[in-house]
Amino acid sequence: MNIHPIVAGNWKMHKTRNEGVSFVSKIKNRVLDKVEARVIFCPPFTALFSIVEAIEGSSLSVGAQNVYFEAQGAFTGEISVEMLKPEGVEYVIIGHSERRRIFGESDSLINKKIHAVLGGGLIPIFCIGEKLEDRKANRTTDVLKIQIESGLEGLGAVDPTKIIVAYEPVWAIGASEAASVEQISEAHASVKSILAGMFRDDGNDVPLLYGGSVNEKNAAELIQTKGVDGFLAGGASLNEDSFCSIIEQVSNFYKR
Ligand code: 13P
Repeated sequence: MNIHPIVAGNWKMHKTRNEGVSFVSKIKNRVLDKVEARVIFCPPFTALFSIVEAIEGSSLSVGAQNVYFEAQGAFTGEISVEMLKPEGVEYVIIGHSERRRIFGESDSLINKKIHAVLGGGLIPIFCIGEKLEDRKANRTTDVLKIQIESGLEGLGAVDPTKIIVAYEPVWAIGASEAASVEQISEAHASVKSILAGMFRDDGNDVPLLYGGSVNEKNAAELIQTKGVDGFLAGGASLNEDSFCSIIEQVSNFYKR
């Protein structure tokens, strides 16, 4: 299967609605249809719907950073898939390490969210990744296996065009350096094999992004890493020049 490279920007809790719309409009004008990559903006909820409007008619897409698994009800502060879908949101980040660590999201909650997102026709960007202590204790593959198997539990099959996995080693997020090419290719090979063990060829074809201190300086090298189908960028996705440069580098690599 021909995987389209993906460059997703997780803005986390940054940018007001006006800042976000102006940022996306500038990127839209700069990248136009030149890019080979699927570009996904994941802004905070307050900017989400205005950004859907701002990208209309372009090849750019929008994702939410979180969602609750119930459709509606007494869940103060939460938003459902049914509320995102009609607004033109196509993707949802699920299981980000900040949600796991700061907001206590468990593998079983993440699994419920994945089912809700897929059931509602949105595409999950399912994040996994080991902590530094796991890596030091040689537990990286075990941790990834538990996260993947519990996160995707109960899915009889996956359609590789309807789900994205992002490997984000927790220790490389917002760090001074990304993981090394060797560390990434090794982890991506493990993830691919775990997915293939669960879903055979379809599992192997699921697009697998790397995230963790990706920037305009390391994107060209990291995109060549075996098993890397694109990036989930945090900090660098907030800066126009950095994000455009990452998109161009990924795109150029796939155009060769
Ligand atoms: P940084 O690119 O800032 O390290 O963040 C990565 C991330 O968490 C994306 O989801």
